[in-house]
Amino acid sequence: MQVKNICCIGAGYVGGPTMAVIAQKCPDIDVTVVDINEQRISQWNASDLDTLPIYEPGLKEVVSQARGRNLFFSTDVDAAIAAADMIFISVNTPTKTYGKGKNMAADLKFVELCARQIARVATSDKIVVEKSTLPVRTAQAIKSVLSETGNGVEFQILSNPEFLAEGTAISDLLRPDRILIGGETSEKGEEAIQALVDVYARWVPKENILTTNVWSSELSKLVANAFLAQRVSSINAISELCEATGADVREVSKAIGMDSRIGPKFLQASVGFGGSCFQKDILNLVYIAKTFGLAEVADYWEQVILMNDHQKSRFATKILETLYNTVSGKKIAILGWAFKKDTNDTRESAAIYVADELLEERASIAVYDPKVKEERVFADLNYLESRSAEENKELVEVQNDPYEACKDAHAVAILTEWDEFKSYDWQAIYDNMLKPACVFDGRAILDRAQLEKIGFKYYCIGN
Ligand code: NAD
Ligand code: UGA
Repeated sequence: MQVKNICCIGAGYVGGPTMAVIAQKCPDIDVTVVDINEQRISQWNASDLDTLPIYEPGLKEVVSQARGRNLFFSTDVDAAIAAADMIFISVNTPTKTYGKGKNMAADLKFVELCARQIARVATSDKIVVEKSTLPVRTAQAIKSVLSETGNGVEFQILSNPEFLAEGTAISDLLRPDRILIGGETSEKGEEAIQALVDVYARWVPKENILTTNVWSSELSKLVANAFLAQRVSSINAISELCEATGADVREVSKAIGMDSRIGPKFLQASVGFGGSCFQKDILNLVYIAKTFGLAEVADYWEQVILMNDHQKSRFATKILETLYNTVSGKKIAILGWAFKKDTNDTRESAAIYVADELLEERASIAVYDPKVKEERVFADLNYLESRSAEENKELVEVQNDPYEACKDAHAVAILTEWDEFKSYDWQAIYDNMLKPACVFDGRAILDRAQLEKIGFKYYCIGN
């Protein structure tokens, strides 16, 4: 079977870029990305490509090539489902905030709503692809919702988890380490797998397209994120030991990363990992292990999260202690609010939690991030409900100019590893700060010798 019409439900960080690349690489396939969020869809359709709803290097070039040719963004979910022969479900799967599995399990209500909508609208056979990250055995639940329709339509469910990282989404999509496709081992299942393999094979070498059973594919996605996050927590644990012993975590990372069995990636010590997925997916893995009565397995993986929480908190405590145990009324500049560089995404960003702890100590915070807007910073802080929105407005300012953010501050905290921070005129920043002027480098990106020569008191994570 050759796919001619794809629909993707969910125009977010995964649905938008993934479908843009599929459309760019497969000009003969019509790709429609749908979402219930009207504002998001109108931003995807905006003529000014600088106002796309997400920032990703290279994204606007891909969108500009394909949009209007064979890439469409729409709020008409029913029409797109009806026309498609392959439907990707790419909606959010956040951690549950209520009921059984609260604060651990993935909330599958959006996925189930999609399945119900597909069941209601479809009048011809469809391949339904799980692109969202889902707990193992979700495909079975989707299949059961879909097969209840009783209108004779046949559905094949595939698992095709996405491994792109934000900030490098386009290059990850163009040159993925692997494409993983899980499907049923029946004849129809294999036909469906082949149809999706044929889509990716337009630009991904065949040997990088891996096919498995559905459950292995679903579980592999959670495990991949757990392993990556575990490396960050491991090096962050060592960063604290480095600070206590005089070792330098950057040197330790380099030394161990040169062992080809360990490898150099994901060994950058930081103020803590953020992002919408690491914490959510590990919590989900822990929940699944607990559900199967595997207490030791659950505890083992939970420690990755506990270490991450500790790292964020100890960074805030370091600022407090260095500033003579009181930050009340003191201005602290935060450079970087996104959870990593080259994205405007702030979900679970360490900056939010560090700022929150400082605000609880009544510090005044000035935030600068090259891609994050003022409304987002306040929305993130208000969401925590630690203080009223009015209190946050009183204590926090968001600046468009980093030098203005640092002016008259007692300390600067680097919370995202944006490259531009390295090329600032740190002498000018120092001259306009209150003394002693401190820099707390939560990403270990600045040059200690240069800053200390200027006169800064410099603290670097893991050194
Ligand atoms: P997102 O919140 O950016 O986007 C999800 C979109 O789905 C939203 O715009 C929402 O309005 C829409 N939506 C929800 N229910 C809908 C419905 N019933 N009909 C139509 N639209 C609906 O989320 P995201 O970051 O793109 O993540 C999506 C999934 O992909 C999650 O499961 C996530 O774990 C996984 N994932 C994310 C990343 C990443 O880097 N963000 C990477 C790999 C996998
Ligand atoms: C991560 C995975 O890398 C993707 O493969 C996966 O598809 C995605 O989650 C997902 O499922 O959502 P992402 O969260 O976008 O991607 O970004 P990462 O590059 O993994 O960074 C996550 C966090 O870890 C960031 O806060 C980053 O700053 C931090 N990190 C990363 C470190 O602190 N040190 C490192 O060495 C690497």
